[in-house]
Amino acid sequence: MCGIVGYVGSERCSDILVDGLRRLEYRGYDSAGTAIMEGGETHILRSQGKLSNLSVLIDEQKPQGTVGIGHTRWATHGRPSEQNAHPHKYGNVAVVHNGIIENHAALRAELEASGHTFSSETDTEIVAHLIDDAFKETKDSLESVRQALCRLEGAYAISVLLDGVPDQIICARQDAPLILGVGENENYIASDVPAILNRTRDMIFLEEGDIAVVRAEGIAISTLDGKSVERKPQKIMWDAMMAEKGGHKHFMLKEIFEQPRAVTDTIRDRVSPTTGDAFIDDFDVDMETLRRVVIVACGTSYHAALVGKFLIESMARIPVEVDLGSEFRYRDPLINKHDLLVGVSQSGETADTLAALREGRGKGARVLSICNVVGSTIPRESDGVLYTHAGPEIGVASTKAFTTQLAALTLLGIHLGRRTGALTEPKAKELINDLLALPEQMKEVLDHSATVDVIARRYANARDFLYLGRGMNYPIALEGALKLKEISYIHAEGYPAGEMKHGPIALIDENLPVVVLAPRGSGYEKIINNLAEVRAREGKVIAIASRGDNEIGNKVDDVIQIPDVRTELQPLLTVLPLQMLAYRIADIRGTDVDQPRNLAKSVTVE
Ligand code: F6R
Repeated sequence: MCGIVGYVGSERCSDILVDGLRRLEYRGYDSAGTAIMEGGETHILRSQGKLSNLSVLIDEQKPQGTVGIGHTRWATHGRPSEQNAHPHKYGNVAVVHNGIIENHAALRAELEASGHTFSSETDTEIVAHLIDDAFKETKDSLESVRQALCRLEGAYAISVLLDGVPDQIICARQDAPLILGVGENENYIASDVPAILNRTRDMIFLEEGDIAVVRAEGIAISTLDGKSVERKPQKIMWDAMMAEKGGHKHFMLKEIFEQPRAVTDTIRDRVSPTTGDAFIDDFDVDMETLRRVVIVACGTSYHAALVGKFLIESMARIPVEVDLGSEFRYRDPLINKHDLLVGVSQSGETADTLAALREGRGKGARVLSICNVVGSTIPRESDGVLYTHAGPEIGVASTKAFTTQLAALTLLGIHLGRRTGALTEPKAKELINDLLALPEQMKEVLDHSATVDVIARRYANARDFLYLGRGMNYPIALEGALKLKEISYIHAEGYPAGEMKHGPIALIDENLPVVVLAPRGSGYEKIINNLAEVRAREGKVIAIASRGDNEIGNKVDDVIQIPDVRTELQPLLTVLPLQMLAYRIADIRGTDVDQPRNLAKSVTVE
């Protein structure tokens, strides 16, 4: 949440900052601002709302400086307003911040008692006050930032400019991401890789507690206690073009269509159809002692984790528990060295998932993460990582990250199944062959989505939607409902179809569209009974069904067909029409599909 960029070099930096912020806007879009060095002093420009408002200001004022920082905000403390927009300037110090300072109230009271007055409601502003006070005493910019940081409790990624020290930015991280981009006689700061990928591919991932002094000619990194440290740059293989819309109206649509490629990249080189093996890069599980797998995640990644439970239990016959990061971390979980703890996260920065993994690791569990962003915090704090190769996901509503997570969890299921022996070699080979054929079938579903468009037009004004599924398709019902509500703002619920008669059936009338996941396979007969129950109460049924199921058309209002695949692989297909339906409905309703209200892509606060 919140995005930070910074530039030190010889180019006019306002365009670079705005361009970086545009790529980070998915992290928050309540307000935006820049602080740019002009004649030895920072010049602040801020505006409420989207980045375009800030761009207008910048176009009018044309700041010429070549050193600057920028911020796009997702409000935590203080409502979205220009006054609460970052950068916050006090005295000689301008600060941008991502995270939450938990002891801000106490620090603010202390500062007010000593005569400070505040101009915003944010937790961030105290940081500028603390640094300014320290700078007056020490006259040493790095030391004053360090002293201020030592007073903070909570999470922060910050970047700081000081009047009178025009050639540098000081930045630091603690429990919030921050990376440095290394250029030729210029350097960059950003919250994540895509923000500066068009400028450099050499990135330094700051570690917890690092402070960096960034100048055009070099970067010096030290720790909070003043020890100097070396952090080697890593070459990022993502392509800058991957973070562009590529002719699509929205990033989300582009990302939906990228899924066959993303899944191919995630499974390729990690399976052997000749031996029936699946490989987890550089991670070994001690099968002698392994008793249980625990998966933690949030949001869409949690839905992938729920599918993962089915996959691992059915292939490896190992018990699997799934929990939300935000629940797991606060209930003193029973976990120990006999558990494999798997964290699923697109961004690798989700605060609750990270805290849950730390909690489990602290209790002795081995941690494997399934993550999309190379070098992000969650993989760096795991014993092993299975990277999904989705490429940058910019649309706030997760799509290709989800299907690549499903693919990665399938690999984990096969890997563990082969190790326990529950998955025989012939069965594994068949499964791998079917998995390798799947991207082509995903493409087929996406290329034939005309029925989805018709259904979207018919139901775009519905007030509520219900999604029903069984078994592995129950998490897909949850995911379909989440996609619809987050981008179209239509209320939607996902439910296990068998539970319908225990409550939600009361909702059904002729105005309620009910999406029923009804592909052939285990549970099919039961789900047909469930959809008959909906129809009997006049509900409108949209079925996702297997191609060749000619009967179902007579029992429902609309059918969206998908290729007939084995149960384990169905979620990778059934979710596609649901993503598309949510997208089309949102587009018809004219919402901001890529940046839905109140949301941010990386939830780096609890
Ligand atoms: C929904 C969505 C969120 C994320 C959640 C976890 O479309 O994107 O629910 O899935 O915030 O994020 P990651 O996977 O980055 O940990």
